[in-house]
Amino acid sequence: MCRDWWLHRLLFDIRMGTMKISAVIFDLDGVIVSTDEYHYQAWKQISDQENIYFDRAINERLRGVSRMESLDIILSHSDKVYSESEKYLLAQRKNDIYCELLNKLSANDILPGIINLLISLKARDIKIAIGSSSKNTPFILDQIGLATNFDAIADGNSIKNSMPDSEVFLLAAEFLGVQPEECVVIEDAQAGIDAAKAAGMKAVGIGSAAKCFNADMKLNDISNLDIDHLLEVNEIRS
Ligand code: G6P
Ligand code: MG
Repeated sequence: MCRDWWLHRLLFDIRMGTMKISAVIFDLDGVIVSTDEYHYQAWKQISDQENIYFDRAINERLRGVSRMESLDIILSHSDKVYSESEKYLLAQRKNDIYCELLNKLSANDILPGIINLLISLKARDIKIAIGSSSKNTPFILDQIGLATNFDAIADGNSIKNSMPDSEVFLLAAEFLGVQPEECVVIEDAQAGIDAAKAAGMKAVGIGSAAKCFNADMKLNDISNLDIDHLLEVNEIRS
């Protein structure tokens, strides 16, 4: 119910021009496609090989966090001090395992509601972009068949500062040629919500980010989202 209310409100505001939204920036992992399990499996293998405790709760803390910062979180559970070159090799090993798992990804893994949302936004001339910390963004988009569907892509390959820094979302807005305040970010991580707010954008928290205190809208997921239907409902409501 809460989810629908916020969606009604967002679409009403876009339609009525009370909130000048000209772009929606999507996080990738956990919003467009769920890669959590693959990240977990890859980090788990590395942790087991290194005899470091790692579980799903720790994995949750890695949402939206860059690869090297994720590794630092994992290594904080070890007594051993790793050199920079050892850390680099560990991160590379993790990524090799992760990329092998990503080979299994296909369009079937696109999360429910995403395709409809992308089509509906395009139909309304609202620009769409990816804003992701992942350096594997091009590979993942290719695997799921969405490599050419976005107007701009800002990812881990094009930024120096990872979320919660605002850089990736500001860069996406710059690529799109829009002002930050015209953008809505859809995110599943607290770090991503913080980054969106730091960029001066609206932030929609989905999944675990629906608990984020600073998200402007909170949704469990965006499945069953039908923008046309929602706009009709808004007309009745207004
Ligand atoms: C996303 C995921 C994080 C991951 C980061 C870097 O933000 O939510 O869990 O650590 O991307 O991913 P990468 O593919 O570059 O290792
Ligand atoms: Mg994410």
